[in-house]
Amino acid sequence: MTQNDHRGLALTGATDNAIALYEKAIGEFQCYSGDPVASIDAALADSPDFAMAHILRAYLFITGTDTRGLEDVRAARRGLDAAPGDNRARMHGLAIDAFLAGDFEAALERLEDILILWPHDVVALQTAHLFDFLLGDARNLRDRVARRLSAWTPSDPGYHILIGMHAFGLEECNDYARAEERGHEALALNPRDCWAHHAVAHVLEMQERRDEGIRWMNEREVQWAHDNFFCVHNWWHLALYHLEQGDHDRVLELYDGPVQGGQSDAMMDMVDASALLWRLKLRNIDVGDRWRGAADIWQPVAEDGYYAFNDVHAVMALIADGRMAAAARTVIAMERTIERGIGSNVAMTAEVGLPFARALIAFETGAFDECVRLLRPVRTRAYRFGGSHAQRDVLDQTLIEAARRGGDHRLVKVLASERREAKPGDAYARSLLHTAANENQANTTKVA
Ligand SMILES: [Fe+2]
Repeated sequence: MTQNDHRGLALTGATDNAIALYEKAIGEFQCYSGDPVASIDAALADSPDFAMAHILRAYLFITGTDTRGLEDVRAARRGLDAAPGDNRARMHGLAIDAFLAGDFEAALERLEDILILWPHDVVALQTAHLFDFLLGDARNLRDRVARRLSAWTPSDPGYHILIGMHAFGLEECNDYARAEERGHEALALNPRDCWAHHAVAHVLEMQERRDEGIRWMNEREVQWAHDNFFCVHNWWHLALYHLEQGDHDRVLELYDGPVQGGQSDAMMDMVDASALLWRLKLRNIDVGDRWRGAADIWQPVAEDGYYAFNDVHAVMALIADGRMAAAARTVIAMERTIERGIGSNVAMTAEVGLPFARALIAFETGAFDECVRLLRPVRTRAYRFGGSHAQRDVLDQTLIEAARRGGDHRLVKVLASERREAKPGDAYARSLLHTAANENQANTTKVA
């Protein structure tokens, strides 16, 4: 018997009870709350032939970008094979196959095919949105959502998730005013939409509205920080505001507390932990033995060669904890990814990940000229290995610091100038310009 989901799309193989559990899982996925895997498992226990439940289960693991979840994806794919599905389910099967083959672009094409036919397939849209993020595809972060908006109305269940995703896409396309407006619109519909909250947090970061950002986070903490498996990343954004204000004690307090640095082994949390400690390292802030915990968690997955963005953050933790041999093995794994030549990660690794990883090692060993040489050509194409503008800024910060430590004050000066134009209130850029001016003055005096 065919039934429909809450957005009117046909489902196969499900009882009413299983559909209710499937909708619960979708709501949890949308707000990153509860345990969507447990909910979808309960739906499948009730209705083993529920095709869309197998599909959602596959995407819950695919979007984790963690090889430890791939067996669950394969199991879900086998479950889908055994469940007699409709045409939409078969198209999702092709998308999952492409994901399993590591061909993220092909998977996104299949998801777009689905969305052209079924714009209310919010599972396809959210999965595609997260992969647009992982591929650094700012235009599709905004426009893949925009292509669905005319088919949706505010009364459609889960409308807020579209608006929140659109907000983030607008932000990554530097349309900050509209992004902020959209973010607030989504939150008015569902205050627990932590992706919309995150979009506004990005706007406040990019516009250097740090006091406001801290207030924004603190005042709404009950909505985004509780029962939420995306919360570490929002805590990371709060830590960034404090970092840029120079409040390093608060940053470390957040790292040890809700950022769960060195404690959480969820891939996205591990990335945030490395990203925060590395920024402190660049500023010469003593972080004690915190790198050890981060490196311990990274090391078992540091040679997976699955997603270059993760690999780079693994290298940060390994080298900062003195594990140079382990970091070298990560680099070898990245080289092998390129040699194998299979999947989207090949280009991401070759064009950005590998030179960045090598540059980090050069930085750690004091080879600052080499670090600069590796990073300069990469910085303008860094978007190709995914993440947000705010996350990828770590590459620019590493380049500037390598130039500074290597004594290339002319390069520091031009990079600081660029930075000040992008963020006029940036204290870091101001201090760099000040230092570079002093160094130039000293050199001029020496010559005279
Ligand atoms: Fe973010």
